[in-house]
Amino acid sequence: MSLEHTRKTYEKLGREDPFYAVLTAECFRNNRWDVEEFFATGETEVADVFGYLSRTAPVFNRDSALDFGCGVGRLTQALATRFDNVIGVDIAESMVEKARELNRHGPRVEYFANTVDHLRFLGDQSFDFVYSSITLQHVPPPANLRYLEEFLRVLRPGGVAVFQVPNGREFREGSLWQTLYKLRRQYLRRAWKIIRGKPAYEMHYIPRAIVEKTVGERGARLVAATSFGGGKPDANFRYCVVKTP
Ligand SMILES: C[S@@+](CC[C@H](N)C(=O)[O-])C[C@H]1O[C@@H](n2cnc3c(N)ncnc32)[C@H](O)[C@@H]1O
Repeated sequence: MSLEHTRKTYEKLGREDPFYAVLTAECFRNNRWDVEEFFATGETEVADVFGYLSRTAPVFNRDSALDFGCGVGRLTQALATRFDNVIGVDIAESMVEKARELNRHGPRVEYFANTVDHLRFLGDQSFDFVYSSITLQHVPPPANLRYLEEFLRVLRPGGVAVFQVPNGREFREGSLWQTLYKLRRQYLRRAWKIIRGKPAYEMHYIPRAIVEKTVGERGARLVAATSFGGGKPDANFRYCVVKTP
C-alpha cells in the first residue's frame, strides 16, 4: 500500500462525490449531501473538540491552526471561527480545489495539496494548533508516523495537537503475525468494502505505545487519549498532545 494509491483513491472521489468521500453515510451517496448540513457537522465536531480541550489541555494561543487531511474544508472552516489563520492540507488536488471554492473566510484560510510523506513546506513551530480527524487512518505506514512527527515539529511551544488514529497490535517488523494481522485488517476489510460497493479506502493504525513514544521523544506531552468512534474502547483514540513550552 502506498501514498500514491491513497492519493489516486481520493483524487477520484474528490472529483466524483467529495462530500460522501468524507462522510460516507449511504443516504448521502451520489452528491446528496446538503452543503449547509455538511458544514454544520464540522462545526459540531470542532465545538466538541473545544469542549474536550477545555477539560484536557492548558489554554493556548489562537493565532494559527493546521487541519491535516482537510478534505473539502468541513473542519477547516469551523476552525477559522476560532483562529486568525488556518491552513488545510490534503493529498488530493480535487479536494483542495473544492475546499477553495467553498471557503467562506477569504485569505485567512488557505488550502494546499501535499503528496509527499512530510510537511516541509510548513516551517518549524508555526502553528498553535494542529488538528487531524478521520485521516491518519487512511495513511499507510511509515508515512502515518512521519506525519505525526511533523505535527510535533510544526507546533509552537505551548501549542496543542489533537489527532485521531486507530490503535493496533505491535508486532516485530516482517514477522508472520504482523503479515497475518495486516492481511485481515487492511486487505480483507478493503475487499469487504468493495463487495458492498463502498469506496475502497485503506485502513491503517498506529499502536498507542508508538504514539506515546513518538510524542515523548519529540518534546511533547500526551495529556489525553480518549476512545473514539463506536468500536471497542481501545480500538481507536483521539489524542491530545501539548508541546512542551
Ligand atoms: C475521510 S476524509 C476526512 C476529511 C476531513 N478531515 C473531515 O473530516 O472533513 C480523509 C481525507 O484525508 C485525505 N488524505 C488521505 N491521505 C492523506 C495524506 N497522506 N495527506 C493529506 N491528506 C490525506 C483525503 O484526501 C481525504 O480528503
